[in-house]
Amino acid sequence: MNEKPFLTDIQTLRERARTHIEEGAVTPGYQADREQVVKILNDALATEIVCVLRYKRHYFMANGIHARSVADEFLQHANEEQVHADRIAERIVQLGGEPDLAPDSLTSRSHAEYKEGGDLVDMIREDLVAERIAIDSYAEMIRYVGDDDPTTRRLLEDVLGQEEEHADDMKTLLEEMLKGPESRKGRPAEPAASSARRS
Ligand SMILES: [Fe+2]
Ligand SMILES: [Fe+2]
Repeated sequence: MNEKPFLTDIQTLRERARTHIEEGAVTPGYQADREQVVKILNDALATEIVCVLRYKRHYFMANGIHARSVADEFLQHANEEQVHADRIAERIVQLGGEPDLAPDSLTSRSHAEYKEGGDLVDMIREDLVAERIAIDSYAEMIRYVGDDDPTTRRLLEDVLGQEEEHADDMKTLLEEMLKGPESRKGRPAEPAASSARRS
């Protein structure tokens, strides 16, 4: 059998783990450029927060125009973008960085834009554009991280998968809206009480 060395020898591993213990999860074996990874994660964090705000705006504005199922979709996406933001912020701290949530610079650091949109179709279209931007930027981040930081990569891959679902949701909604109310008759029943949605 081919003897392929798998790990650094145990003694070296143990010694390395004891140096710089204040760095927590970041060991001397960490392969990526930590500062750069924290920076791209902070840009992603800004993007997620802007997406939360945009979807929330769309949720509340869609409410008034009898578009409950679309509003529900906006709210669900807003909540999922918030989960993305929280997971990214957690990873930043794990890497010894600080999550940048300064509101003044959020929109300039975000990849996606905050677009209020006019009518429902406009809002959905803006959300689809934003999701497509997110998909491209997460794919690029994943390529950048490569094999140097598997935990960050896994996180980015998870988020990317969900952004793709979001884009697909928005594409379907947009198609339905453009086809007119007839096409929405086949949609599953909407939740009865609007109070349930706001809880
Ligand atoms: Fe997201
Ligand atoms: Fe998304």
